[in-house]
Amino acid sequence: LAPKPLRGKKLLITAGPTFEPIDPVRGITNHSSGKMGFAIARAAAEAGAEVTLVAGPVQLRTPRGVQRIDVQSAQQMFRAVLPLAPQHQVFIATAAVADWRPATAHDQKLKKVEGESAAPTIAMVENPDILATVAALARPPFCVGFAAESEKLAEHAEAKRLRKKLPLIVANLGPATFGRDDNALLLIDAAGQRELARADKLTLARELINDIAKRL
Ligand code: C5P
Repeated sequence: LAPKPLRGKKLLITAGPTFEPIDPVRGITNHSSGKMGFAIARAAAEAGAEVTLVAGPVQLRTPRGVQRIDVQSAQQMFRAVLPLAPQHQVFIATAAVADWRPATAHDQKLKKVEGESAAPTIAMVENPDILATVAALARPPFCVGFAAESEKLAEHAEAKRLRKKLPLIVANLGPATFGRDDNALLLIDAAGQRELARADKLTLARELINDIAKRL
């Protein structure tokens, strides 16, 4: 393989969790560290790609040569990604996007009222599916999804691949990989499966990027 197999290609990557506000001081998020997505961004830049990384709230340094856009909520991530997607050849969605957000983000902090014992109920609404929306564009980039499942990994990941109309989905061969520096991955496409053996996330990211480069 050429040393810079992605030269001249533009890659768009989402990474990290999203943060869904309840009020100015509270919100709903998850344990995604963003490490896998940032490793993929670094590997793609090393491979010569022009990389845009849309990141939720994470504590990670921007990889060299990568253009980073910081967002908080799923809606902000959606609004950042959608206009950029048509100008990219590849879209890799590693972000752990919240499926639901509080229906209202209150302007003022919710107060515990003296003498009132009732806890508030937080109504939730569905967030847009960023990956499915990009994959449904008239001329979509090559779309890669990630799947973290607690059971029936390959089966659920393949169902997700078909539902979101993706050429490739990458399943985390758990257990929980959040925050860890290593992982093992299962690549699933229409032709079948290929496992990337347990390794640090940067090694896996480089293998994944080489695999994607061959598909373009
Ligand atoms: O449906 P599920 O969340 O399990 O799908 C995971 C894949 O879809 C990941 O690639 C994730 O980044 C993407 N996704 C998204 N927008 C959402 C939910 C998931 O882009 N609202």
